[in-house]
Amino acid sequence: MAETADKTPEAWRREMVEALKALDALNGMDLPASLERALLEVPRHLFAPGADLEAAHSPFAAVETKWDERGIALSSVSAPQVQAMMLAQARIEPGMRVLEIGSGGYNAALIAELVGPSGRVVSLDIDPEVTERARKLLAGAGYPQVRVITADGTEGAPWQAPFDRIVVTAGAWDIPPAWRDQLTDTGRLVVPLRMRSLTRSVAFRRRGERLVGDSALICGFVPMQGAGARAEEVVLANGDESVGLRFDDGAPADPSLLDNAVRGPRAEAWSGVEVGRQEPIAGLQLYLATHLSGFCLMSVDPEADTGPVRPSNPHFSMAAVQGDSFAYLLVRRTPDGAGVEYGVHAFGAHRKGLAEEVCGLLAAWDRLHRGGDGPQITAYPASTPDEDLEGDAVIDKEHVRIALAWPKGA
Ligand SMILES: C[S@@+](CC[C@H](N)C(=O)[O-])C[C@H]1O[C@@H](n2cnc3c(N)ncnc32)[C@H](O)[C@@H]1O
Repeated sequence: MAETADKTPEAWRREMVEALKALDALNGMDLPASLERALLEVPRHLFAPGADLEAAHSPFAAVETKWDERGIALSSVSAPQVQAMMLAQARIEPGMRVLEIGSGGYNAALIAELVGPSGRVVSLDIDPEVTERARKLLAGAGYPQVRVITADGTEGAPWQAPFDRIVVTAGAWDIPPAWRDQLTDTGRLVVPLRMRSLTRSVAFRRRGERLVGDSALICGFVPMQGAGARAEEVVLANGDESVGLRFDDGAPADPSLLDNAVRGPRAEAWSGVEVGRQEPIAGLQLYLATHLSGFCLMSVDPEADTGPVRPSNPHFSMAAVQGDSFAYLLVRRTPDGAGVEYGVHAFGAHRKGLAEEVCGLLAAWDRLHRGGDGPQITAYPASTPDEDLEGDAVIDKEHVRIALAWPKGA
């Protein structure tokens, strides 16, 4: 304990950076030298005054700073891993003009280090309490040059545009036109984008009216508020809160069709598709989300009696509802313990066909796309006709059409 109590903030920062480097925290990307210097330089603890030094420097944990009346976080100093990953995706260079949407202070200070004295950082937050706090903390930590403005980030910051980089730090369901239009012709947008309930930090380069993604990494964020807010629809499959199904779009019109389904009988099938413990499954999740109709995410109350509904992970299971039937994916350990095999539980009149469909999609991913880079993600204006979209699957938002194209597996 004495060792921990005596450790200086500088020592904590060094340890945080070493942990980020050691644990492949940036999903295969190297930590850029300029970002490493920024992480070592900016006094992170000054932006999390309520937290002890250990909590302030925990590489994978956010420090929450504001909650709604149900205790759900509305604002936080994001986890160092997420910030480093997104800033590496953003490729910020000295002299750039950068807009951050969602303030807190710390991330803006990192950006200020990356752009240097000839660059410019504007940070927007919808919440005046957050901007007031961020302004004070930035000034106190030696970054008074960051302009912190209270505004809904959906409109960007037209009076300060154009930007070389826009980094969004709240979970977005859509990409409003302002974010693209306020980028320079070669600008980059990094945004935690929710697609069929799965959030990926997508790095886009601007190509005229299009935004072309070049990386998409798993992350989690507090949701966007204001004009861009978009709640998921939750269907209570058991008639109570014990089994919840979250839909980003396409929630069933008549969820009562499921009332009898969830009580059984249950079909169980195993796909033969085995995945190693460390193998990334982000691409598999997006594949199912865009190829399995009625895709949703299921969470069940682990304390409740949910009868035959017994997922391997009560908090997160990929699932689908099709009419009067529903299914969720589950895993079991492979006999050698080196990984897991994917399977499915299905319910309702069409359970056998649905289970077969899920196993067929798992096999197709395994055969065609496994080991590849994951899908190429491109955001087109909402008015783009189908024939101009390049991709195998499309997710329609209000302002953009997101096309996903899978390369063949390695
Ligand atoms: C995770 S926090 C930002 C973390 C911050 N970038 C940091 O330095 O760690 C997300 C912030 O986004 C803000 N936010 C949510 N919706 C917004 C919107 N429409 N426009 C601007 N800010 C928004 C919230 O008020 C919250 O403070």
